[in-house]
Amino acid sequence: MFASLDLPAEDPILGLIAAFRNDPSAEKVDLGVGVYRDERSVTTVLDTVKAAEQRLVNEQDSKAYLGPAGNERFNEAIAALVLGAKHAAIRDGRARTVQAPGGCGALRIGAELIHKANAAASLVVSDPTWANHIPLLSSAGLQIQRYPYYDVTTGGVQFERMLDSLNSQAAGTIVLLHGACHNPTGADLSQAQWHQLADVLSARRLVPFVDLAYQGLGDGLDEDAAGARILSEKLPEVLIAVSCSKSFGLYRERVGALIVVAEGSRDATAAAANLGKIARGIYSMPPDHGAAIVARILEDAKFAAQWRKELSKMRERIGGLRNALTEALTLACPGREFAHITRQRGMFSMLDVAPESVERLRKDKHIYMAGDGRINISGLREQRIDYVAWAVAEELNNQRSKRAVAG
Ligand SMILES: Cc1ncc(COP(=O)(O)O)c(C=O)c1O
Repeated sequence: MFASLDLPAEDPILGLIAAFRNDPSAEKVDLGVGVYRDERSVTTVLDTVKAAEQRLVNEQDSKAYLGPAGNERFNEAIAALVLGAKHAAIRDGRARTVQAPGGCGALRIGAELIHKANAAASLVVSDPTWANHIPLLSSAGLQIQRYPYYDVTTGGVQFERMLDSLNSQAAGTIVLLHGACHNPTGADLSQAQWHQLADVLSARRLVPFVDLAYQGLGDGLDEDAAGARILSEKLPEVLIAVSCSKSFGLYRERVGALIVVAEGSRDATAAAANLGKIARGIYSMPPDHGAAIVARILEDAKFAAQWRKELSKMRERIGGLRNALTEALTLACPGREFAHITRQRGMFSMLDVAPESVERLRKDKHIYMAGDGRINISGLREQRIDYVAWAVAEELNNQRSKRAVAG
């Protein structure tokens, strides 16, 4: 039977992890995989997570099944964190939350729910988007197209072109949006733009599906949820896939949630019940450990305050690195503009380097980044910023001279 299977191409980001691990060079810099790294380049367990986990060990008296919707304490706490406890969608009984195995699990069960509600549904994603969006969402049977998003020349969003494209979509089209800290570009919408976008989605009867994987790592917990909150207020139907991997550092525990906002409480209940069936048919129920930790953190004022502090520290470190990289690149590459790196948010930014340059940087300079030039800013250690900036500048300058010759 298995002889009929082809060997699939290696996942480029996972391949990068192995290549970095096997590189013996002392010079090596890992800007590849999307995990937060501290100043020592380590992805540590947060102190708050350790403390909450200890409490969980002491308190937990059963590991019996919880059910397809997972941990209800977690579901309630995460909905309040994302929407705000007093949000109209929660108050009016229009919102339901189910726990999922990570943000990926939430995206997948959301896509399955959409397909179940409308087998002909199509979905549009930003150009570019996180590479895993396409397999995750298309596997559920959704047709996927792209809308213009990133402007390489400004490092920001081509907002007018994005709206023009959305204005031409058929009613009922699902629009995947990055709630904050766009992956891979770091280019986010302003609050005013979220409002404008909500008006277009509403006028065209399009349904937003917000991927919120980096809440708190952009401008702050409330600021980063602003888009999801605005849409949930202005639109009848919204899906929000939440990941706790980055903001709580719980990557391998697989903690996430899908929040569904429906037109009324009947529809919300129907959506939640169908999500339960979908989960039951795939993995039956999500793992509890990480969700139980998050619930304890968010329910306990002391833990919550300590976690917010740890999250702020990560966010501020990323901000500092963005400023330092902008400065170093400006110095190393005169005549080029890098201020967008400071304006962008979250862990990622895209360097305007060709695939050959990415390859050369890896082979000759031991600097690892995704093939499209995406870098994980938190992978930069302060003492290595100049090294990275000069190596990247060399590639950018070569590219510029080649383009000038070709032009
Ligand atoms: C944009 C985006 N969405 C969702 C996820 C899913 O995260 P996880 O399934 O690890 O919680 C990620 C992880 O890198 C991401 O970057």
